[in-house]
Amino acid sequence: MMKASIEKLLNDQIKFEAQASMQYLAMASWADAAGYSGIANFFYSQSEEERLHMTKLVKFVNERSGKVLVPALDAPILEFDSLKALFEKFLNSEIFVTEQINKVIFECLEKKDYNVHNFMQWYVTEQLEEEATARTLLDKLNILGDDRSGYYLFDKDIEGFIGDSK
Ligand code: FEO
Repeated sequence: MMKASIEKLLNDQIKFEAQASMQYLAMASWADAAGYSGIANFFYSQSEEERLHMTKLVKFVNERSGKVLVPALDAPILEFDSLKALFEKFLNSEIFVTEQINKVIFECLEKKDYNVHNFMQWYVTEQLEEEATARTLLDKLNILGDDRSGYYLFDKDIEGFIGDSK
């Protein structure tokens, strides 16, 4: 049986992944409406990935005979002042998820649940990649600064990042 504290943290993680999925869907939709089709495709894809991260956890908790509590979600942020604000939200969301995953890992070591610890390693690797992608994209936007003509190229280039962090 899984320890109650670990089951609770895994259920929390299910919520955070679901939350990220809905947040990225909102970001995709914002970009779509603003005419940034590349950025929209990137976030539609990220949203799908986060949904997979969530489902993978749901299946794992069930496999381990834990109780999954499919969560209610907080409303995502729908409006952004700029592309920079959009990508800052992306990076901050990934940093938050990484911190939460680290909490699960810490608890697994405390409670000596090496099976969950092993399962969570996939998420550790995933987070490294996603954070790196978010930082790279934000760096690019910072280089562009107020040069809005660069947004067109950014919107084209970002398609090359789709699926990078699968
Ligand atoms: Fe699955 Fe990027 O958090």
